[in-house]
Amino acid sequence: MLVIVGGSMAAVKAPSVLRRLREGGVSVNVIATRAALAFITELSLSTAADGPVGTDAAWFSPRPDALHLTLAKVDAAVIVGASAELLAGAAHGHANELALATLLSVPGPVLWVPAMNAAMWHNRAVQANVARLRDWGHHFLGPEVGSFGTRGEGAGIGRMAEPEDIAAAVLKLLAPAAVSDSKGRDLDGLHVVVSAGPTREYLDPVRFISNPSSGKMGFAVAMEARDRGARVTLVTGPVNLPGPSGMAVVRINSALELRDAVVQAAQDADIVVMTAAVADYRAAELKGEKQAKVAGDVSIHLTPNPDILAELGQNKGERVLVGFAMETHAGVERAAAKAARKNADFILLNYPTQEGTAFGGDDNQVTLVRADGSHQDWPRASKRQVARQLLNEALRVRDLRVREQRTTD
Ligand code: C5P
Repeated sequence: MLVIVGGSMAAVKAPSVLRRLREGGVSVNVIATRAALAFITELSLSTAADGPVGTDAAWFSPRPDALHLTLAKVDAAVIVGASAELLAGAAHGHANELALATLLSVPGPVLWVPAMNAAMWHNRAVQANVARLRDWGHHFLGPEVGSFGTRGEGAGIGRMAEPEDIAAAVLKLLAPAAVSDSKGRDLDGLHVVVSAGPTREYLDPVRFISNPSSGKMGFAVAMEARDRGARVTLVTGPVNLPGPSGMAVVRINSALELRDAVVQAAQDADIVVMTAAVADYRAAELKGEKQAKVAGDVSIHLTPNPDILAELGQNKGERVLVGFAMETHAGVERAAAKAARKNADFILLNYPTQEGTAFGGDDNQVTLVRADGSHQDWPRASKRQVARQLLNEALRVRDLRVREQRTTD
């Protein structure tokens, strides 16, 4: 385990984390950033770790090995007292200090335990960096609400999680059964098709009807499926996210293009997850030229788009079909009716009104709804965690179906 100690008042809690990890049988490599050493001595850390501490000074001294590569030979990394600076550096691939250079080569999961003033934590740049790291599958513990610092400069969110909680989270991260709760490569050999983002329905060459879907939920499902060994096809509308590596990414604009790409990819799919916010209507006639402004009201004649999930549901075969639904009222009944109408195995229902979730947020709070009306509320969690649970459920449905098939054969 690599423990990076960041530059924050919370660095003084790092020896307690190190001691607990050692008591839990974990061997640790430790790095203290330059800023961390302003808060805690190298000697306290190395005593608690029972070994040397990697520092920038050691990295830049003549030595027989490349220290950032030696220290990266671990199963996982935790950043204790993660500062805004470390988050920014990692989110942008910086390697200008030992901690960041080492993180670039750590092969396993990374757990961030931030500690900073509430105003800093809420800053848009910090939140964007956190979102980016989450999208890449990094884990976060805290920050928590509580007093922070010693000069009364902080109250509110920003306080670092307690050492025993950090040690427990690290042990969970390292336990083979609990590696991201996701049972390793349990999707090996399966083809997972995911649709994401909005569609754009052009009225003329420069105007379109669309919606604010960010694509984050679908991208999280695609990345989780990839990391669990699936072959993944991600069909996405226009979003501000880089195409993830290790999968086929098909970029489309309109619902009709989405339909063609998904239907084609779904031919040999085992699981299809429709997170795309498909526009229900398109212009009946797409004007070839930009329409000039006219005096008074105008009306646009809209025609319905095909329902892709329903189309897949009509010819379902062995596939597991998962949909999403956003409702403002009577959510469970409406989602159950949709699952029935579209022949989807289950629908994850969310609400557009909850802050920080659904459209554009990094978290999601969903209710799993089946066609028979049975449903289950899932706690608010990162979109990656929701993706994990979604795929667990899809796999459960698939296993049941395969077993039923065997007994009828
Ligand atoms: O009917 P509604 O749009 O609420 O259904 C949501 C689910 O159906 C989502 O999974 C969405 O991706 C899918 N859908 C579709 N084709 C459409 C509209 C929605 O596949 N035309």
